[in-house]
Amino acid sequence: MDWEQISKAAYLGSIVLFVLALGGLSHPETARRGNLYGILGMAVALLATLVFIEGNYALLVGGLVTGGALGFVLAKRVQMTQMPELVAILHSLVGLAAALVGFATFLDVEGHNYQGAEKTIHDVEVYLGILIGAVTFSGSVIAFGKLSGKIGGKPLLLPGRHFLNLVLLVVSVVLGVMFIQQSAAGDGGGLTPLIIMTAIALVFGIHMVMAIGGADMPVVVSMLNSYSGWAAAATGFMLKNDLLIVVGALVGSSGAILSYIMCRAMNRKFLSVIAGGFGTTSGGSASGGGDQGEAVAISAEETAGLMGSAKEVMIIPGYGMAVAQAQHTVNEMVKVLRGKGVNVRFGIHPVAGRMPGHMNVLLAEAKVPYDIVFEMEEINDDFPDVDVSVVIGANDIVNPSALEEPDSPIAGMPVLECWKGKDTIVLKRSMATGYAGVENPLFFKENTRMLFGDARESLEGVLKALDS
Ligand code: TAP
Repeated sequence: MDWEQISKAAYLGSIVLFVLALGGLSHPETARRGNLYGILGMAVALLATLVFIEGNYALLVGGLVTGGALGFVLAKRVQMTQMPELVAILHSLVGLAAALVGFATFLDVEGHNYQGAEKTIHDVEVYLGILIGAVTFSGSVIAFGKLSGKIGGKPLLLPGRHFLNLVLLVVSVVLGVMFIQQSAAGDGGGLTPLIIMTAIALVFGIHMVMAIGGADMPVVVSMLNSYSGWAAAATGFMLKNDLLIVVGALVGSSGAILSYIMCRAMNRKFLSVIAGGFGTTSGGSASGGGDQGEAVAISAEETAGLMGSAKEVMIIPGYGMAVAQAQHTVNEMVKVLRGKGVNVRFGIHPVAGRMPGHMNVLLAEAKVPYDIVFEMEEINDDFPDVDVSVVIGANDIVNPSALEEPDSPIAGMPVLECWKGKDTIVLKRSMATGYAGVENPLFFKENTRMLFGDARESLEGVLKALDS
């Protein structure tokens, strides 16, 4: 066996490891193992590539060390609440890499000698790779801005935006034909349509994500995840690298499945999310509107009293639990309550927090037993039998206006219907709105009480009162 065959076998091995990684990541209990498979797969892939490639090793190792060090520092520094932003900006780098590799392979005429149909196929690969890469790059940069609050969450709705998108698409197809014809004629032709298309794709990526409303961001994050996979696959085609093609397709298709799951969770049609501005029809009330009455506050001691005497308690965590890093205190409280014979369960909304599985990760980190953590669809019918629902730093995911107000920006999104239980206690610092910027009528319901303050501090108060 020569080196080439060995590295091909290593590629195959790392593909198997990536598939195992995806399988492992589908459940909190196996997620750690999944991560390990992924790391191992990437290490094998990098080694095999190093062995396989004949080139400038100093440049290659320099790139590896710089990129690795940057990634290490970023991942070490990032707060758990900033993870979605980090993921978005990393997606943008995949897009940028695909676009740059596209230009490099196109300009490197000496690196290959394609003729006839082979040349056309290669040009199509280059064109599509740059197109997907540029859309992924600019779209992910805007998603980063929106997730980090640097850009407002409100959708930017340009007049005639669907028409504008259609024009951009048609122009891109026409430019594609021009590019292939000019490139086939030789003499380095085709660069002008390629550059114009890149500019259009960048504008399209910005426009697409800017038009998306706050609550629909989860779909966009998973969609850009999928695009970054297809961008990597396109790079694989350009570089004739089987591993990149397969891994890119794995990421692309798993991202597409995640987008589908997110759309189902939000009760949205994929196309209406992509078209942007969903639920922001004129006259839509982002504020909930009207005089809602007064919210009634409750103390930590009273909360402990209610929970301690309950039979059924449902905990609903949201983004605020992540901000307050309250998961460990939550686990301590659950232990005490269960010790008192209270049946405690967790209800997890699919888009709670700021990234898919955000709450599950935090609860697993705090060692909350998996068998008391339930998905929304498993427990949403049980609320009439719940004595106390404790909403910890959540807002949009328990907002009844999603079901009751057709004009609301979150209309149609299924929510955890805690108000159907006996009592609901909401832990948050103020009456501020959540990510979607929508007022929440839950806070003003007769059977709702507000425990104001940082979630961790409030829970520490509850825990103290429960212990005494
Ligand atoms: P949100 O609706 O954003 O509400 C979180 C609430 O937590 C806020 O109202 C805030 O109120 C409170 N809070 C913040 N810090 C706190 C602290 N230290 N202690 C106590 N409370 C605190 O969160 P959610 O209910 O989890 O819903 C998620 C939202 O994010 C949805 O709109 C979803 O579409 C969107 N989103 C989700 C994802 C994914 S993939 N999960 C990605 C992007 C966007 P105060 O300021 O008054 O404390």
